[in-house]
This record gives sequence, structure tokens and C-alpha cells, in this order.
Amino acid sequence: MTIEPFSLPDDFLLGAATAATQIEGGDRNNNWYRWFESGHVKDGSDPSVACDHWNRVAEDTALLTELGCHTYRLGVEWSRIEPEPGRFDESAISHYREELQKLRDSGIVPLLTIYHFSHPLWFEAMGGWMSRRSIECYLRFAEVVVRRLGDLVDDWVTINEPNIYLVFGYVMGVWPPGRKSIRRFFRGRRHMVRAHRAAYEMIHRISTELGRPQPKVGVAHHLRVFDPATDRIADRFMARFYATMSQGIFVSAMTGTPGDGGRCWADFVGVNYYSRDIVHFVPNPAIGFGRRMSLEGAPVNDLGWERYPEGLYRVVRWVAERHRLPIYITENGTCDSRDAFRSRYVYDHLYQIHRLIEDGIDVRRYYHWTLTDNFEWTEGTTARFGLVYVDFETQRRAPRESARFYADICRRRAVTTGMIERYIR
Ligand code: FCB
Repeated sequence: MTIEPFSLPDDFLLGAATAATQIEGGDRNNNWYRWFESGHVKDGSDPSVACDHWNRVAEDTALLTELGCHTYRLGVEWSRIEPEPGRFDESAISHYREELQKLRDSGIVPLLTIYHFSHPLWFEAMGGWMSRRSIECYLRFAEVVVRRLGDLVDDWVTINEPNIYLVFGYVMGVWPPGRKSIRRFFRGRRHMVRAHRAAYEMIHRISTELGRPQPKVGVAHHLRVFDPATDRIADRFMARFYATMSQGIFVSAMTGTPGDGGRCWADFVGVNYYSRDIVHFVPNPAIGFGRRMSLEGAPVNDLGWERYPEGLYRVVRWVAERHRLPIYITENGTCDSRDAFRSRYVYDHLYQIHRLIEDGIDVRRYYHWTLTDNFEWTEGTTARFGLVYVDFETQRRAPRESARFYADICRRRAVTTGMIERYIR
């Protein structure tokens, strides 16, 4: 693969992404703490500890500044803001206001995620996203967030990766609530699509009502490449089937189609990209006629996910051919405890963004997943995605070599020959 210097446009924004449950600690009133308690986190790590970010906002904001991040994608924890149905916690709201203010004071543009896989136990108890009332509950919460924090936020993600939440939670059954039901998968999708569209309209309506500048609102979609294992028609059919069911039907319904006279519920398309799956047709209805695996012999990360930068180019092109909207790479990163290939991963993926921009595609932002090592859902804290290392015993943070590389990129919006020599070769 090519290794050459390149640069990004002057107004391109680079930053890092996180999610409340994965970093904050201190909250046990949510579905992920329950999932941990019932023994589902592989290494036994406790999300109510995570990286104690709740008490280390100043330190972590300083890290963002040290890295030269122009923007930061963060989330709010629903169970903190609305611990009981309809009761909103002022101290949690003030905490987030202070955090957002600190970011702005540091010259960092916040992008706020309203929902990222985690919700209060009372919401789970009423059936979560399966309940017909889920939409109104989500909107009641979202409205408070937008009214109370919106003067400090110009960019919103309404929902993170609805496809992953539903596939893992309701098809594979490995995430809360651990069900396997295709009927429920579609029901959840219907509710999440409606919730997103209504939130999109609400956020714009509130901004008009309060005389705020119009914000940018979108969804962060998890997009993968699904390639057939062989040229056989059955493998090709299954690959297409996976791509459609696990992402196509989400992106189209949540985005809408502006230029074609249709309605549109997004001001940007958020793309979370990590890897590719090779799809085999298997004549076995019990496993849904398909199996996904990594390409044999391909480079993988610590979790066995193929490192396939070209895939970022392919998924973004796929979006751009369907929707004429700006694209934000809302997540991209890798699990690499030794920091052996993270710099190369960053280089390779940003190089694809450079190619996309050269080809006239409107990619505007890149959020690296993630700032510090954190609680990686069912993998726990042993899966290390951070630019910054965390010692979970002491909560000490230490920027890795890849963090220095990333800081250099943020500062220059470019990769130079000197940087290639220093960090990549
Ligand atoms: C994405 C999630 C994010 C993180 C990364 C590794 O699918 O949105 O929270 O877990 O994967």
C-alpha cells in the first residue's frame, strides 16, 4: 500500500470520540451495569468504574488539548439525567454544562451524542426500544438535553449505531437484553427510526424557537464492508443480504433523500467504520444461512477484526452515491494494546479520506475512536482502543506513541515525509 505525504483541507476537523457509559464510571442505574452484574462482560470489568472520567473531566479535556483536537464527540448518560421517569437531575445537567463549557473554552467543538447503547433501568423494565412508548420516552429525554445543553452544542448525533444495538441485542443475543428475535429486531428498528426523525425535527424546532443558530443533526451509522467469500451466487447473495439488512435499511430510512424531492432527516451522515466481513453461504437455517469471518491471512487487530482501510473508502462512496450530504467519520480506530500498528492504522484511514476528498466527496470531519482506553462493552477494559493508555488500578493516563503522531496530524492537517519516517516506517 502507498505511503506518501498528504494533506487535508484547512477547514477539515479532526478529533476523538467517546461514549458516556464507556468512560464516566459512577452510574449503576443503566442496562450495561445490569449486563455486567449478570456476568456478561468477558473480563469481568465493571462499567461503574470505567476510566472515572466523571471525576476527571479537566484532566481528559487537557489531553484533548494536548492532542490538538479540533473537535470532540461525547455522549450523555440518560440514566444520570433522568434517573426516574420524568424526574430530571439538575446536578447531572450542570455537570454536562460545565464539561461542554470547558471544551468550548479550550477551542474544541463538541458533537453531542444523545443515545449510545445505554439507557436507565426503568426504560429497560418497560421493554426498552420494544415498547411502543419508547419513542415518547426518548423524545422527552432528548428535549430536556437539547433545551438545557443546546446553547453549548451545534452538532448532534441523535442515536449511535442503531443497527449494532439491535443486531447484538436482538439477533445475536450477546448484548443486553440478550434476546434472539427477528420480529423484535424489526420492531426496534421501526421505533428507532421514528425516534430519530422526530428528534431531528424537534432539535431544529427548538433552535428556531429559542433563536439559536441551526445545528447539524445526524445519526452515527456503523458501516462495514461485506464481501462474498467466493464468486458463487449463494455467497454473493448472502453478502448483499447482510449489507442490506444490517445497514442499508437503517441508513436510507434515517437519512431520507433530499435532492430527489423526498424528505430528509439528516444534515450529515455519520460513518463509524472499523472493518470488513467475509460472508459465506451455509446451508443451515439454524445459523441464518450465513457465516461472517475475517479474511484468512489478513492483518487483524487484537480482537481479530481485519484492518482494511480501503473499506473506509468503499463505505463512504456507497453513502455519497445515495445521499448528497456532508459526511462525518464519527468513529474509526483499532484495538491495539501494544500500540504496534495504531499509527499505521490512523495513517492508512486518513489517507483514504484524503482520496475521497480528492475525488470530490464532501467528508468534513474525522473522530478517532478513542481518546483513552475505556470500557469496551462485553470485551471490558482489556480491549484497548485508546490513543492514551490508562492504568485502571490507578487511573493514570499516558499518551501512547500513536497519540503523538495524531497530535502532529491535528496540528498540521497533514502527514509529512518527516512524520512518515518518524512514526510509520
Ligand atoms: C463501535 C461503538 C463504540 C465502540 C467501538 C469500538 O461500534 O459505537 O462504542 O465500542 O465500536
